[in-house]
Amino acid sequence: EIQNKDALQKSFKEMISTLPKGNCWGCFEDLCQYQGFWLFSTFLQGALSAQQQFQAQPTDIILCSSPRTGTAWLKSLTFATITRTLYDDSTTPLLSKMPHDVVPFMEFDHAQFSTNRHLGIPLLATHLPYSLLPRSIIDSGCKLIYICRDPKDTFVSLYHFAARYSKSQNTQPIQLDEAFELFYEGVSPYGPYWDHVLGYWKASLEHPDKLMFLKYEELVEDTVLYLKKIAAYMGYPFSSEEQQQWVPENIVKMCSFENLSGLEVNKTGRHREGQGNLGLENNIYFRKGKPGDWKNYLTTEMAQRLDQRTMQKLSGSGLSL
Ligand code: A3P
Repeated sequence: EIQNKDALQKSFKEMISTLPKGNCWGCFEDLCQYQGFWLFSTFLQGALSAQQQFQAQPTDIILCSSPRTGTAWLKSLTFATITRTLYDDSTTPLLSKMPHDVVPFMEFDHAQFSTNRHLGIPLLATHLPYSLLPRSIIDSGCKLIYICRDPKDTFVSLYHFAARYSKSQNTQPIQLDEAFELFYEGVSPYGPYWDHVLGYWKASLEHPDKLMFLKYEELVEDTVLYLKKIAAYMGYPFSSEEQQQWVPENIVKMCSFENLSGLEVNKTGRHREGQGNLGLENNIYFRKGKPGDWKNYLTTEMAQRLDQRTMQKLSGSGLSL
């Protein structure tokens, strides 16, 4: 079986080596274009493995997103909600593990992920576009939650992440202007960003009971309201007694940017240790957590161009960002 696995990985690698390549954003490997999307080859390889091997359970809840749109926050909120009867404020794993270590990614943390599934917590995450999800996710009828964000803030967050990553790896950092043009053209990790959003948006219109579509800005605006909706959707609704005891409010407080970013594990801890280039400081995932930070980085002209692109890409979809 191990031989088979090795042969499979080898064939994925060979296929990937034939794909069109795009700028690496100062990271350790080029992006490659696969079925309309730009992925780092390591994660594409993980995605192809997941497509072959991943067996979704009908009870699974899959958190889906493009990078830098609020993934870690959604992980912490859903994890805290689902585990609220197992742990209290002083025992929750969120105090000692960063959100990406409590809810693994399907396409990065494949090995870790199979062990985590035994803990009985049905949460998993992925950055894959809807069209590249393993077939068994769709067939199993499990629930999906998608989060997206204003493309301008997503870009600014992505740019900073790439720059920080380069610094930690001593690679040549990407410049803001160059990153902007790449993002605009769709050559960004898991991009084109708009196509990623639209894939999930259309699926949410077709299967509203199977896909909950969220926006980061709305979640910021009224986190408690949305957390209650998310909890009910996941099948873990807050009882009226819990609501009287401020359980939703306490989860929101625990998962707030201020609280999580101030925890020792998220200030000084490290993530994916021992996995070479994938190892990172946890604090790279916590930057500002504010909608509208693009104003501090984009010129008026850049913002207008990106807005126009967004309008053009989303036109006729019924979605605005
Ligand atoms: P900024 O770079 O704009 O600050 P992801 O988790 O998908 O990588 O998204 C990262 C973005 O979410 C970053 O945005 C990060 O600061 C923000 N973020 C992280 N934790 C958060 C939290 N608990 N609440 C709100 N935003 C958070």
